[in-house]
Amino acid sequence: MKTLLKLQVNGELYEVYASVHKTLLEVLREDLSLTGTKHGCELGECGACAVLIDGRPVLSCLTLPIELQDREITTIEGMADGSQFHPLQEAFADLGTAQCGFCMPGMLLSAKAMLDQNPHPTRQEIRETLAGNLCRCTGYTKIIEAIEMVAAQQ
Ligand code: FES
Ligand code: FES
Repeated sequence: MKTLLKLQVNGELYEVYASVHKTLLEVLREDLSLTGTKHGCELGECGACAVLIDGRPVLSCLTLPIELQDREITTIEGMADGSQFHPLQEAFADLGTAQCGFCMPGMLLSAKAMLDQNPHPTRQEIRETLAGNLCRCTGYTKIIEAIEMVAAQQ
C-alpha cells in the first residue's frame, strides 16, 4: 500500500507516493534521489544513514517517514548554504579527513548538530558524539581535529 508523504527536506516541500513500509533512508535515496545519505548496515549500528530531524541526528534506516510530516529534515545535500560549504565541510576537506568517504555525510551532520548545541566541545564530548558514526578507513584523528578547528573559530 502506498501513501502520500509530504516531507520538508532541506527547506523544500516534497510530495511523494511511497509504500508505507519504506524507511526514511529508502524514500530519500529512491524516491527523492537524495543519495548523499548512505545505505550502510540498516541495523542502526553504523551511522552512515544519519540525517537531522529538527536539528537532531536520527538514523534514517530506523525511521518511518510517515512520522515526520511537519518536521524539518536535513540531509547532507542541505548542509551547505547555496554554493557556500559549511565550515565543517571546509575543515573536513582541508584536513583530508576522508578516505573512501562513505561515513562522511553522517559524521558531518552529527558534528553539525553537536556544534549547534555546544559550540566548544571537549575532545571527549566530540568522541562521544561520534560514537554512533563508524569509520572503517580512518583512525578518527583527522575528523576530531577538523571539528576542533571549527570550534576554535567560533
Ligand atoms: S544504515 Fe542506518 S545505522 Fe547503518
Ligand atoms: S572514510 Fe571510509 S568509512 Fe570513513
